[in-house]
Amino acid sequence: MSSKDQEQDKLLVHEDEKHLLLDHSYDNIQELNHPLPNWWNTIFIVSTVYAIGYFVYYQYMGGPSLREEFKKDFTEVAAVRDHFKKQNEIFNPDHYQAIVADDGLNKGKAVYELNCMPCHMERGAGDVGPNLTDDHWIVAKGTPDTVYQVVFNGSEENGMPAWGQLIPKDEVYQAVAYVMSLKNTFVKGKEPQGEKIEE
Ligand code: HEC
Repeated sequence: MSSKDQEQDKLLVHEDEKHLLLDHSYDNIQELNHPLPNWWNTIFIVSTVYAIGYFVYYQYMGGPSLREEFKKDFTEVAAVRDHFKKQNEIFNPDHYQAIVADDGLNKGKAVYELNCMPCHMERGAGDVGPNLTDDHWIVAKGTPDTVYQVVFNGSEENGMPAWGQLIPKDEVYQAVAYVMSLKNTFVKGKEPQGEKIEE
């Protein structure tokens, strides 16, 4: 076979491709049609229909905007966050008992000396913060739950930080255990402030 014939052969339509031949011929140029597979066509049609529905829904039928969807999602996030915050904020007497039983007083003393002493001084005598050893209370009422509230949430406009955001929750409980042990020990220091609470 000459090389010219070989060239010619390449252009021939093979036997198994005959059914793909389109029935036109321009200047002897013939065209084969390889149809796209069905799975491809199906995906194409489905996504086109979906896109039209999507466009109409979001453009003309009041579908939520990105901003609105974000707002809705964020409301859910905020609800979950508030739920957890509340759970931590609320004093749990059983947990407090467990903390006290687990060497809470000594651990609380360590927490106190690290975080609270700069303002409340040694053994709660008071300086920037009030004396914690008398029977007078400004914000708390001398009970573990009210002391926990003050320590966890602080009294920030008056200079008492919200420790719930600064130290682990269990350390807040331990500090409360220590503060409760200071109560009515009447260490000489800052003069009593707030209301006298009788037992
Ligand atoms: C930066 C200074 C500062 C530090 C540190 C500080 N406190 Fe206070 N604390 C205050 C002030 C000021 C008040 C009074 C708040 C008020 O009058 O509303 C206060 C109030 C309190 C009260 C309420 C007393 C009452 O009479 O009702 C308790 C309990 C208390 N602090 C415990 C703690 C504990 C526990 C820590 C450490 C984890 C701590 N404080 C660390 C400044 C401080």
